[in-house]
Amino acid sequence: MFGMDIEKLKKEHMNLPDKIKIFDTTLRDGEQAPGIALTVDDKIQIAKKLDDLGVNTIEIGFPIVSEGEKETARTVKSLGLNAEICGLARVLKKDLDALIDSDLSYVHTFIGTSPLHRDYKLKMSKEEILDKSVEAIEYAKDHGITVEFSAEDSTRTEKDYLIEVYKAAEDAGASTINVPDTVGVLTPVIAKSLIQDLKKELKTPISVHFHNDFGLATANSLMAIEAGASQAHVTVNGLGERGGNASLEELVVSLAVAYDIDLDIDTTKLYNLSDFVSKLTGVKISPNKPIVGGNAFAHESGIHVHGILENTSTYEPINPEFVGHSRKIALGKHTGANGLKSKLDEFNIDLSEEQFCSVYDQIKSLGDKGKTITDADLKAIAVTEISTSEEEYIKLLGLAVMSGETVSPSATVKLLIDGEEKETSKTGVGPVDAALNAIKSLIQETTSIELEEYNIDAITGGTDALAEVFVVTSDGKGNKATGRATRDDVVMASVIAVLNSINKLLVIQNS
Ligand code: KIV
Ligand code: ZN
Repeated sequence: MFGMDIEKLKKEHMNLPDKIKIFDTTLRDGEQAPGIALTVDDKIQIAKKLDDLGVNTIEIGFPIVSEGEKETARTVKSLGLNAEICGLARVLKKDLDALIDSDLSYVHTFIGTSPLHRDYKLKMSKEEILDKSVEAIEYAKDHGITVEFSAEDSTRTEKDYLIEVYKAAEDAGASTINVPDTVGVLTPVIAKSLIQDLKKELKTPISVHFHNDFGLATANSLMAIEAGASQAHVTVNGLGERGGNASLEELVVSLAVAYDIDLDIDTTKLYNLSDFVSKLTGVKISPNKPIVGGNAFAHESGIHVHGILENTSTYEPINPEFVGHSRKIALGKHTGANGLKSKLDEFNIDLSEEQFCSVYDQIKSLGDKGKTITDADLKAIAVTEISTSEEEYIKLLGLAVMSGETVSPSATVKLLIDGEEKETSKTGVGPVDAALNAIKSLIQETTSIELEEYNIDAITGGTDALAEVFVVTSDGKGNKATGRATRDDVVMASVIAVLNSINKLLVIQNS
């Protein structure tokens, strides 16, 4: 797909494993990110979705930390999912017992091996760490548990010592040797070289667990796989400690598309899973997040939209459907006529050439003011352009306000609604609020409206300054409309702007 012979590159420069396993640690490392706390039910729902997606292993949690973690592990294990369910444990008997008590039969056990971890955290010698690791692996094996062993902070551990620990773990019965880049200091070339060196020394499958402190976790994982690592730890949306872990969606799509590797993952479920995890964890996805961000398949500039409308491949590496996402043509100051036309077609809005030019100019000028133009904004602008004065459903017949120090501000409003005169008085925190409350109460039989935005500007200086009021109202059904009015009386300007906006909203509703 890239004008490059990927098969030739694979043969000449890569030592790809026959099968690559995806080990998801969203529910363990991902949950360790500050601010994330998932309930048992949240974890069960995410685990089911991960299983549906097709990951090979789900790290469900750290059983020793709470009864809830154990209960989650037990429940998820009892679901009989296709994915293997794994739990985390330090190389401690009590951690392993907690895992066994959770009915799990796969442990990811770890101990720090770097000088920093040995001297400051564990205060243990190299020998003690090695012995503890072997002891724990043997204990787990004696209880019929499959062992994946991690030398925490492996990438800041002396290479000779790291190899010694990993060989001892292999001899003790570990089925997978995992290489954590705990503080994300690897670079792609170093990642490749490290895994190449470990491959020469070990017979056991190698896995990688790379953190994203420098934004390199996915690239490093790919290089490790090129060097022969047959498993990568990932998290949905790249969640995890600090800058997070290698992201599931980035790694899977890179392997599937750039490397043309079949992973048994249903990529069409990626966007939905990402969105689901974002909602449950409360961690919003940045718009420019690859694959799943709101802008991953969004186009605004005239040149790009033109290309996309001719052939989507011009400015997209994959179709959004491949990951269950959707394409978006956005409007803003970079919008071209083609983009605007396609959006209007989408909403079945037909404009004359003159109306089209006016809408186009308004979008450009709103964009210049730094405003994002949503679909609702476009509909409102376009409908205003085509609506005529006869379509004024609600007219102002009268307005009186009272304000002062010791009385509640109040307003009396008289409206003509569909030919019928209606009048009411209401109070509010100020005269504008009182007047708007009166309007709201009069029209609530006709439509329900909410004032979303209210801006007031004094056009000239002095006490007789002209007030320009700009409002946005919405009807709670996804429709929004703007309204604007300029008067020398602030209350009047506000009332006229709101009525102007409501009339447009009614046009939109009835169109
Ligand atoms: O990043 C890390 O080192 C870990 C360990 C628990 C393996 O998550
Ligand atoms: Zn980690």
